[in-house]
Amino acid sequence: MTISEESEASETPEVPEVEADVAEVETSERKRYECLEDLPGVGPATAQKLQEMGFHTIESLATATARELAPAGIGERKALDVIRHARGSISLSFVRADELWKQRQSILRLTTGSQVLDNLVGGGLESQTITEFYGEYGSGKSQMCHQLCVNVQLPPERGGLNGAALYIDTENTFHTERVISMARHYDLDPEEVVKNLIVAEAYTSDHQIFLLENADKIIKDNNVRLIIVDSLTAHFRSEYVGRETLAMRQQKLNKHMHKLIRLARAFNAVAVVTNQVMAKPDVFFGDAIHPIGGHIVAHTSHTRVYLRKSARGPVRIARLVSSPYLPNGEGIFKITENGVEEVDEAERGKKR
Ligand SMILES: Nc1ncnc2c1ncn2[C@@H]1O[C@H](COP(=O)(O)OP(=O)(O)O)[C@@H](O)[C@H]1O
Ligand SMILES: [Mg+2]
Repeated sequence: MTISEESEASETPEVPEVEADVAEVETSERKRYECLEDLPGVGPATAQKLQEMGFHTIESLATATARELAPAGIGERKALDVIRHARGSISLSFVRADELWKQRQSILRLTTGSQVLDNLVGGGLESQTITEFYGEYGSGKSQMCHQLCVNVQLPPERGGLNGAALYIDTENTFHTERVISMARHYDLDPEEVVKNLIVAEAYTSDHQIFLLENADKIIKDNNVRLIIVDSLTAHFRSEYVGRETLAMRQQKLNKHMHKLIRLARAFNAVAVVTNQVMAKPDVFFGDAIHPIGGHIVAHTSHTRVYLRKSARGPVRIARLVSSPYLPNGEGIFKITENGVEEVDEAERGKKR
């Protein structure tokens, strides 16, 4: 079962799955469309309505469902046709494994700034998927996010993606100064670096969802290759208290994560979320520390890295907890004034 099927099914189980009706566009018929109005059957009025609903690009339509387009006054038949052409345009469709393999070849890797950590996750953070950093307060999640905003701007030979970053900040912890000192350390022009960094502060969980729902145009226009939600769960955690709100919280988180993965796929971007941990007092054996969000967040984030502090100040321990295809493992890096750095041999020798 794919992620989008899972989300559709959980949201409105009574509505039959319509996704399957979106037939593939003949290869000969595939055309590249630049804006909504270029799509067959989409006039200016419909395009306007779609934009008001948050669909600004061909990519966003390609990953939409017919039901989602209904409020624009588009009937199901026409909606399926629009989606079909949008999919054909960006070649997002049902694929054979060899084509999937080709698609995997287009996956890009973003360096974390630490070779050890890069190796742990298979050569850097992967585009088209979500990487989740979770850990206690002060474990370095936000520092990592800041570092990635700089790294994404590096050329590929230095581990970057030559792209910009979008930072959705929910805890008001983003610091431009921090990015500037990290940029200086890399001999980058800090002024240029901060120009390629778009920050959106989210005041509530609904606001956070809204920002991401409407991010596709910004991502496209600015060549954003890194989308960060720091923290993914903080607002949800404080707003949805009590058992009776749990289902609603999970449903919203689920949808939010799916939007993120759709964006990451459509734009070949790296998606990073951070998550707090909570202690489970009723767990006596095994790890009593659990990330917030339960199984939905666990299932949609493809790579999860658990960060924790060590006894030695700047040193952090990263553990790869789940990855679709890599063995779990552990490694250390450090956070200094320069940012995320390698722990050198001499320091490594010392006891943790
Ligand atoms: N300029 C700096 N120089 C060295 N270490 C720093 C600097 N800024 C932050 N840190 C380290 O990062 C920690 C905060 O990490 P942070 O990423 O904000 O944690 P969280 O996991 O809660 O997001 C601080 O406690 C400190 O150890
Ligand atoms: Mg933080």
